[in-house]
Amino acid sequence: MALLEVRDLRAGYGSVPVLHGVTLDVEEGSNAVLVGLNGAGKTTTLLALAGLLASESGEIWFDGQRLDGLDARRRVRRGVVLVPEGRRVFPALTVAQNLRLGAWPRRRQRRLVGTALARVHGLFPVLAERRHQLAGTLSGGEQQMLAIGRGLMAGPRLLLVDEASLGLSPKLVAEVFAAVRQINADGVTVLMVEQNAGVLAGADRAFVLQKGRVVFAGAGGDAMQKTLWTAYFGDPLAEPGRR
Ligand SMILES: Nc1ncnc2c1ncn2[C@@H]1O[C@H](COP(=O)(O)OP(=O)(O)O)[C@@H](O)[C@H]1O
Ligand SMILES: [Mg+2]
Repeated sequence: MALLEVRDLRAGYGSVPVLHGVTLDVEEGSNAVLVGLNGAGKTTTLLALAGLLASESGEIWFDGQRLDGLDARRRVRRGVVLVPEGRRVFPALTVAQNLRLGAWPRRRQRRLVGTALARVHGLFPVLAERRHQLAGTLSGGEQQMLAIGRGLMAGPRLLLVDEASLGLSPKLVAEVFAAVRQINADGVTVLMVEQNAGVLAGADRAFVLQKGRVVFAGAGGDAMQKTLWTAYFGDPLAEPGRR
């Protein structure tokens, strides 16, 4: 049984349907990616998984239990944590305060929170250096690191990362992807949403989302990058290293 099993998930906004039956499995300990063009429904999928958008039908199973029907807070407590698109750090709070807020669901477990903070600082030393700085004054890359760090503070079993690479330089994209790979190597299952094909190289499994449906599921890895991207998107500008 996979850690996350999504069956025929349908969701949308008001009367506008966006997901027309998303089905995918993410194995425990794996690093999976969901790729697709702008507007394919990637963010909508993650919002529905995190409980921030109600699903209309379908099933979400996490560690053998139904997740749909639970509110977002309960899903976080189960270990499903979203790093949202656009970072959404709290700009008027310091780096340290942003991180502490990430640990809110388990704020009474001081030792665990302390361990998580040390881990975040180990992963992103710049966040330790800038812990007293207001998050709004960080660079885009640093804000992305903070958003990921804040997610880690909640103690995720499954980390959902929405377009972490957006707007970052190639060097920072590589840094952020490497950090996520490290998080995965440390035992957190990861589902990344990306439009950057570079992410496929480090992934165990890849899903392609087109118009609210998963149209391809296969192994990740180097070989997958070019074939998959050309077959589904045909946009050389989106190939690794070009974007
Ligand atoms: N709040 C919203 N209200 C109405 N439609 C939305 C909303 N958010 C997204 N959509 C629409 O849903 C579709 C999928 O969006 P999204 O999940 O954000 O795609 P992606 O993340 O793959 O770029 C798009 O057509 C988008 O315009
Ligand atoms: Mg999106």
